[in-house]
Amino acid sequence: MKYLELTKQFIKSKADEKGKKIDHLQNTLHWVKQLDPQADEALQIAAFAHDVSRLVLGVDISELKENKKGFLDVEHMREHQEKGAEIITKYLLEKGADKEFVSDVGQLISFHEVGGTPRADILKDADSISFFETNAEDFIKKFVPLVGKEKVEDKITWMFARISLDKARDIVRDMYKECIKKCRK
Ligand SMILES: [Fe+2]
Repeated sequence: MKYLELTKQFIKSKADEKGKKIDHLQNTLHWVKQLDPQADEALQIAAFAHDVSRLVLGVDISELKENKKGFLDVEHMREHQEKGAEIITKYLLEKGADKEFVSDVGQLISFHEVGGTPRADILKDADSISFFETNAEDFIKKFVPLVGKEKVEDKITWMFARISLDKARDIVRDMYKECIKKCRK
């Protein structure tokens, strides 16, 4: 899986540049492979790279504060997905990957928040499991003071509710309940 290895190097170098961790991305790939042991290279790349826009461009806190729906604002989400797809598409094409293959990776990243196809649903569900395992605690600590409890709780509930596979929902259920408790403290 040449392009997966290249993508990992690319993401790691971007994370180093910005002083950010990639645990969530590594863990999303882990869960994609757990949910689908046959996961192909494009899906594995999309898992490792799906949040690349946050890594490269950061998060605009003032925008999150201003818009009523916070993290769930349609425009905010669309931009996060599409910018990520753009960054990785450009990178893979530069490395000589096949156009169709690249467009498949781009499509998966473009729909990773909402899913809609069996493979995009696996990515979305793996992203949710990984969010609860690796991000949720820091997410609550960081964002409650910045944008308020309500928007943080809405996002957490959405991350649980969007799960398609029963198996994934079962893995996350208790972690979700714990997070809601922490949020309301
Ligand atoms: Fe994610």
